[in-house]
Amino acid sequence: MNNKQKSLIDSFIDEIQYGLEAIYSNNVPKNHNQNTIELNKQQKLQSERIMRINHMGEICAQALYRGQAAFTKEAKIKSQLYKICDEENHHLELCNLRLIELNGKKSTLNPLWYSASFALGALAGLNENKWKLGFIEETEKQVKDHLEDSIALLPIEDSRSKIFLEEIAEDEEKHRGTVKDIGSEEIPELVKKGMGIFSKIMKKITYHI
Ligand SMILES: [Fe+2]
Ligand SMILES: [Fe+2]
Repeated sequence: MNNKQKSLIDSFIDEIQYGLEAIYSNNVPKNHNQNTIELNKQQKLQSERIMRINHMGEICAQALYRGQAAFTKEAKIKSQLYKICDEENHHLELCNLRLIELNGKKSTLNPLWYSASFALGALAGLNENKWKLGFIEETEKQVKDHLEDSIALLPIEDSRSKIFLEEIAEDEEKHRGTVKDIGSEEIPELVKKGMGIFSKIMKKITYHI
């Protein structure tokens, strides 16, 4: 086995480890305060569903960025993608924390969502045309819109989830700006619509499991 094959296998194993860690770890942000908000059963259930969907979204964000970064040749873009992915990790930790506090369950289909998103990211990374970053830009935009809908659906009493989602939404807007700065171009309307339909299906399923 030559060195190139060896390093390919190493990268493959690294990616599997990273994915498993993202999907199954219960890491939470350091120095977080203790939750003191009391919710009734119905409010708790609604918050859990919303936070499960957002947790799944952050799982997908990890996979998308990892997939695209792994297959992107340009060093500058690659390092920016890894940097954003790192920031996305904080979102995942916030969602972990809130789900733990709510005694909520993560989506059982997260391995599937991660794999599908990694594959999409890889495709975007291998794509050398002008839309290679547009896909991420559109994702960040749709996530931001989705977060606003999520906040509106939260029980009014759950100000803690609201604060977390607002913080995440602010970052997603920044990410969108960053990919724009490094040269993203708007993707065709039809692709945007397709992404919207696909994410609606994922959200519908994750609402329940
Ligand atoms: Fe995020
Ligand atoms: Fe983001």
